[in-house]
Amino acid sequence: MSGRTLGLVCAAAGGIEDVRERLIEPMLEDGWTVAVTLTPTATIWLEATGEIGKIEAVTGLPVRSAPRLPHETSPHPEVDCYAAVPATANLVAKLALGIADNQALTQLCEAIGGRRPPVVVFPRVNAAHAGQPGWEHHIAALAGSGVHLVYGEDVWPLHRPRSAPNKELPWRAIRAAIEAATGLGQRQHPSDEQPGRPPATGPGL
Ligand SMILES: Cc1cc2nc3c(=O)[nH]c(=O)nc-3n(C[C@H](O)[C@H](O)[C@H](O)COP(=O)(O)O)c2cc1C
Repeated sequence: MSGRTLGLVCAAAGGIEDVRERLIEPMLEDGWTVAVTLTPTATIWLEATGEIGKIEAVTGLPVRSAPRLPHETSPHPEVDCYAAVPATANLVAKLALGIADNQALTQLCEAIGGRRPPVVVFPRVNAAHAGQPGWEHHIAALAGSGVHLVYGEDVWPLHRPRSAPNKELPWRAIRAAIEAATGLGQRQHPSDEQPGRPPATGPGL
């Protein structure tokens, strides 16, 4: 049992519909607390499918989207690791530039800029996203800032848009990256489909 807290950020990309069953619930079973924050578009998507209530029921925490008011305290606990899964090309680009125009990006930007807690990012992108002129700079900027990227031909080969719409996300590699970023050994969960930095004090966002 890890006893650690994951700050999970989900953006509006393929695979978000499976995040509860394939990432959140296995992490909870491994003893993690999981505090979920969504981008505004991801919030619309998961509201439409009723997933937000289900995530709140299993995690025991509110799913965040809007920033808190200045006099309010954060409804989430301090986290030991952030993970952006799935991350859109949009979120990756903004993150690399330090743009923090929503709650999800605010949390990630502060963690990256402050060098703690560790941040794992899985860019759920296709060949067109990666063909944008700034893409390689964004990836290099994040890697150079210590972000743990789950990225590359071995974990997520780039396909043409809409050529692999039902592709399963690399859940095992994502969980392994989170555990490695927090200094935990790799674990295998029964639901697997296929084969740092110091502990956080948290930004209180
Ligand atoms: C059905 C659908 C699937 C999408 N899948 C992806 C995806 O896998 N990766 C991606 O980067 N963008 C994807 N997009 C585009 C993003 O949702 C869009 O750029 C959005 O503005 C991202 O907002 P966010 O980064 O704030 O979540 C998809 C859009 C739609 C409508």
